Amino acid sequence: MRIFIDSANIEEIQEINRMGFLHGVTTNPSLVAKEKRDYHQVIREIAAIVDGPISAEVISLELRDMLQEAEKLADIHPNVVIKIPLTANGLQAISILNQKEIATNATLIFSANQALLAARAGAGYVSPFIGRVDDNGNDGMKLLEDIVSIFDQYMIDTEIIAASIRHPMHVTQAAKIGSHIATIPYKVIMQMIQHPMTDAGIEKFLSDWKQSI
Ligand code: E4P
Repeated sequence: MRIFIDSANIEEIQEINRMGFLHGVTTNPSLVAKEKRDYHQVIREIAAIVDGPISAEVISLELRDMLQEAEKLADIHPNVVIKIPLTANGLQAISILNQKEIATNATLIFSANQALLAARAGAGYVSPFIGRVDDNGNDGMKLLEDIVSIFDQYMIDTEIIAASIRHPMHVTQAAKIGSHIATIPYKVIMQMIQHPMTDAGIEKFLSDWKQSI
């Protein structure tokens, strides 16, 4: 499973990118709004840091506006992937962009059927929102498992991004299920790195070392 960061914060992305395991970035309107900066400039800076797919979401809901926005975002950098919310207009946009060879990530996926339709319309990626499914009293991992199994069964090459990850166990479970990618917030990546026994082990090694010199 490849690791993406779910962030629009340049410092977070730079820090995580330096560790060598980062394959891509996803942003969304809420994450970009938090930065209070020019949207296209943020995407440009991210694309200069990370050599991999960078998802940038359209804000419009009308087809024509979605397509205009998508083309402008795609012009920023060849690695930009257009994030499109899963609506009827969104599916049309995915299909048209696919014909123009502009990569898309179908976002706000909450059912296996939505994922299947997005894939068949030509989405390069689908993003089931695991954490938000859990928040709603349902099983986000079951949704991910269903999508993985359907895509496997029909040899669909659309990549699955486990999104709305809330804690490290979500990442482990997504990897075991066979998600192609997990997009993970900075805080959860840091939680994945840390382990109290690693810290205790370092402390013990260092104190033993100091006693011997
Ligand atoms: C994914 O692409 C989304 O940006 C993100 O994972 C949404 O997560 P949230 O439910 O924590 O907002």
